[in-house]
Amino acid sequence: MRSATCLIFATLAALMMSAGVFAEAPSTAEDCASCHNKDGVSDDEDIPTIAGASAFFLENQMFVFKEGARPCAKEEFGEEEHEGIAEDHCDLAKDLSEKEITELAAYFSDKPFQSADQKFDADLAKMGAQIHEQRCEKCHSDAGSLALDDAGILAGQWKAYLVRTMNDYKKGDRWQPEKMQPAMEALSEKDIRALAEYYAREGKN
Ligand code: HEC
Ligand code: HEC
Repeated sequence: MRSATCLIFATLAALMMSAGVFAEAPSTAEDCASCHNKDGVSDDEDIPTIAGASAFFLENQMFVFKEGARPCAKEEFGEEEHEGIAEDHCDLAKDLSEKEITELAAYFSDKPFQSADQKFDADLAKMGAQIHEQRCEKCHSDAGSLALDDAGILAGQWKAYLVRTMNDYKKGDRWQPEKMQPAMEALSEKDIRALAEYYAREGKN
């Protein structure tokens, strides 16, 4: 009787784990923690928070890295405290199987997004709001705060990272949806700064 109960519990536990109810960290997540932290919430302005974005988006980014279709964060990987993980983000992604990528994406997607603790410039944010309304909101709704848009989380993301990645898009150094390209190419340096200030303003905690 006792062992039968145990068996039922063991089976239940296995089922719940496979359904992600316990959302235990996959072992590969250890390789992410030194930069993105255990829960995917970064405290470094040059490293994006990955918690709470959609699994589809996160998974896609890992494939973009695998293809070398966005800058590979060589500089951060070269820093002493991250030594031994991989040469850079593209190599790290190449070393992961599709199954591992799916598990990692599900894990970080399940974690709550937390807005970065950062100041913003009110005047620039106002200017950014206008640009966003006209050119970005249709794909990044609610100031880019909704995971279900499958377009990352912009509201509350680190400004420094956003400025860098918007410039990567503008220069064509990061893969992007075809329809986003004209919007990014048209942005001036000031527009990019204004947008980043706006997304910082829209971060909620
Ligand atoms: C040495 C630091 C470092 C480590 C380790 C690291 N990352 Fe990153 N990650 C970065 C940086 C920096 C970026 C931003 C790259 C850029 O500028 O485009 C990034 C970007 C990402 C992105 C894209 C986020 C977005 O909003 O576009 C994802 C997803 C990601 N990392 C997942 C992971 C996962 C999963 C792991 C562990 C398997 C990991 N990273 C390990 C530094 C790191
Ligand atoms: C036609 C739809 C569309 C438009 C318009 C658009 N975007 Fe995007 N954007 C996307 C999608 C989809 C992604 C995710 C791309 C991917 O999976 O690699 C994205 C990704 C991004 C990211 C990366 C987020 C991250 O976490 O790394 C930034 C930043 C961004 N967009 C900013 C903008 C800004 C600013 C505008 C307006 C000037 C804009 N986008 C207009 C669809 C769009």
